[in-house]
Amino acid sequence: MGQRRCATTLEPEMTDLELAGLRDWLGRFDLKGKHLEVGTAAGGTLCFLMNCYEEGRRPPFVVVDRMTYFEDQMGVVERNLIGHDLDARSVDFNTMSSSEAFEHAHRTADRFDFILIDAAHKIRHVMADLRWLRLLNVGGIACFHDYAPRFKGVQWPIDRFLNRNPHFSRVGQAGTLLCIRRDAPPSGREVTMADRIWSILWSPVLQLRQSICKRLNRGDLGS
Ligand SMILES: C[S@@+](CC[C@H](N)C(=O)[O-])C[C@H]1O[C@@H](n2cnc3c(N)ncnc32)[C@H](O)[C@@H]1O
Repeated sequence: MGQRRCATTLEPEMTDLELAGLRDWLGRFDLKGKHLEVGTAAGGTLCFLMNCYEEGRRPPFVVVDRMTYFEDQMGVVERNLIGHDLDARSVDFNTMSSSEAFEHAHRTADRFDFILIDAAHKIRHVMADLRWLRLLNVGGIACFHDYAPRFKGVQWPIDRFLNRNPHFSRVGQAGTLLCIRRDAPPSGREVTMADRIWSILWSPVLQLRQSICKRLNRGDLGS
């Protein structure tokens, strides 16, 4: 388990521009249903999101994370929440993989008004994480971090998803944070078996590309 800067700074792994985008979108849409963050690191962005709402008007927050990003990750997140005058017990923490949590949420017909996806950035994982959108209410919004040409593993599956699911529209982009909105309910599977196979086939290609880029010392993270 490596150490991460955010484990000591407790800061969000997002830029000020991206955080301003989040605040703007949450203010623009009147979202009262559950808010979900998939991948929380030190909980910096979680604290920011929760503090976008006044106490008493704050929707329920759910977090999914393996909590193996750095030593004592759960303890660090809890201390971060306390430091922001937030009650850690008010957050529903699901310490498991995103896929396990999705299967459970799908089985129990959980629904969300807001979803932030910022977990594994490999193409096959991002495609799998796009399944969470099936649980997004109509009118709800979803944000994806690291949506940029240098993160092909993130950008490609999202572009494919949006091309094949025109009942989602783009709300905007702040830095590498993309915001989309569900305009209509699902009429079938939004992430199909063909999508999953497509992402699995691209995975080793992007992995190889990333290794070559690293060797050539370029910051292109194409996995
Ligand atoms: C980039 S960090 C999240 C940053 C955070 N959203 C922020 O803005 O500060 C990625 C997080 O996702 C978690 N993660 C990565 N892959 C995961 C998976 N497959 N299932 C659950 N959590 C995962 C890691 O433990 C880590 O905490």
